[in-house]
Amino acid sequence: MDKVRIFDTTLRDGEQSPGATMHTDEKLEIARQLARLGVDVIEAGFPASSPGDLDAVQRIAREVQGPVICGLARCVERDVTAAWEAVREAERQRIHVFIATSDIHLEHKLRMTREQVISAARDMVALARSLCADIEFSPEDAGRSDPEFMYRVLEEAIKSGATTLNIPDTVGYVTPDEYYGMIAEIRRNVPGVENVIISTHCHNDLGMAVANSLAGVRAGARQIECTINGLGERAGNAALEEIVMAIHTRSQYYGVTTSINTTQLYPASRMVSNYTGMAVQANKAIVGANAFAHEAGIHQDGILKNRLTYEIMNAQTVGVPESTLVLGKHSGRHAFADRLDQMGYVLDTDQLNRAFTRFKEIADKKKYVAEADIEAIISDEVYQPQEIYHLEQLQITSGDHAIPTATVCLRTPDGSLLTDSAHGAGPVDAVYKAINRIVGVPNELVEFAVKAVTEGIDAVGEVTVRIEAKENGENGLPTNPQTGTKTRVFSGHGAATDIIVASGRAYMNALNKLLAVKQKLS
Ligand code: KIV
Ligand code: ZN
Repeated sequence: MDKVRIFDTTLRDGEQSPGATMHTDEKLEIARQLARLGVDVIEAGFPASSPGDLDAVQRIAREVQGPVICGLARCVERDVTAAWEAVREAERQRIHVFIATSDIHLEHKLRMTREQVISAARDMVALARSLCADIEFSPEDAGRSDPEFMYRVLEEAIKSGATTLNIPDTVGYVTPDEYYGMIAEIRRNVPGVENVIISTHCHNDLGMAVANSLAGVRAGARQIECTINGLGERAGNAALEEIVMAIHTRSQYYGVTTSINTTQLYPASRMVSNYTGMAVQANKAIVGANAFAHEAGIHQDGILKNRLTYEIMNAQTVGVPESTLVLGKHSGRHAFADRLDQMGYVLDTDQLNRAFTRFKEIADKKKYVAEADIEAIISDEVYQPQEIYHLEQLQITSGDHAIPTATVCLRTPDGSLLTDSAHGAGPVDAVYKAINRIVGVPNELVEFAVKAVTEGIDAVGEVTVRIEAKENGENGLPTNPQTGTKTRVFSGHGAATDIIVASGRAYMNALNKLLAVKQKLS
């Protein structure tokens, strides 16, 4: 069977999702997970957009082996040279050059004529090719471009050295039939196309990104651009896990394979969700909490008789942890490490030590610890940004005849301990106010979500928060180069058997991200 390359753009297009900004260490961890997952290409960022992006792509290029590492560039000389600078130390490098081809973009955004676009594409692809052997070219907004003009631009890109042609439906406008037609017509009308790989890049504004990408494969595309959890601008990009499992489950129909290790899909989804604070909806295909749950009596009866009655895939194939009882307070470090290994987590010694301490704390409170609990511990303890302030202690008083009051103790960056108290509308509000009195960074809580990881009264609770920096537009926070908006929303995640403690940890997590960005810029 033909192989379809999986090009992951979580760290570039995915990060453009509002509030999904990630720290370099988080990006590096995600890139390592993408390598374990077996993606063919990682688009690690847009190096010309900021020194931070260039640094992140450079570190990924140096430290992550396996996939091709790619950097994005507009058809501008400094973008192309920055992209090369960022990826040159990778084992295998790619530069991805793009320019819009739709009349709407030419007239209102680029203010360029068609001839100017052709010449910019030709010159910048040639420049990129003089630096790097693997060049991808994208006609942005291909879905709304005049096909004849787009064919001319694509032909020039091939002549100048492009090795992959990516066809973006930038605004998620086209239907699967139309996208199939676009790829088929490109294959018929662009001279030299038989020597390059055609790639799909579909956005999800009408909920058709995955269907469009798969239609592209049916028409002959052999690379798919996608993101973990479908993260991305507006309604997002095509979801990697859905594409991979569609090809895996219906391989005869599609007649292609991928080199993805499907058991790493769920850990990848959790990692991206935790680092970005973008929760995965319960009924999301493949990685949602209910994706493999059977509720209706008739379904449960069928499943007990034969799983094939209502299941086309099983949870283990995508790496969903079993919710069966697995470990207890007498389980040792070795058994814990062993279980992590089976669950697909690769931790260094320090991370393992921290996770094991948390496991023991939870095992003291719960009789048995399930895989789902372990997974929450890993998310909370390991996938965290560097701490500037650490929540040492938290204590609350609340009730229907008490004024909710919290006392918190934080370890400050210089190692000293500061304690303060506050009262609030409820215990969580009181905790956040007490923390604010110490940290003193104006912000507003814009989202707060709590969920139980397993069933039962002693379940571990997971809290996700999003906070917005509350200073004026000139607050020194970075601007997203593609949207022109200030990065102001930061997410945080925390887990504990006590949901007030989990709430405090989640808030500290988000505050630390905000502080790290401010520190970097000051
Ligand atoms: O959606 C889009 O057009 C893009 C390009 C930069 C490939 O993300
Ligand atoms: Zn895109």
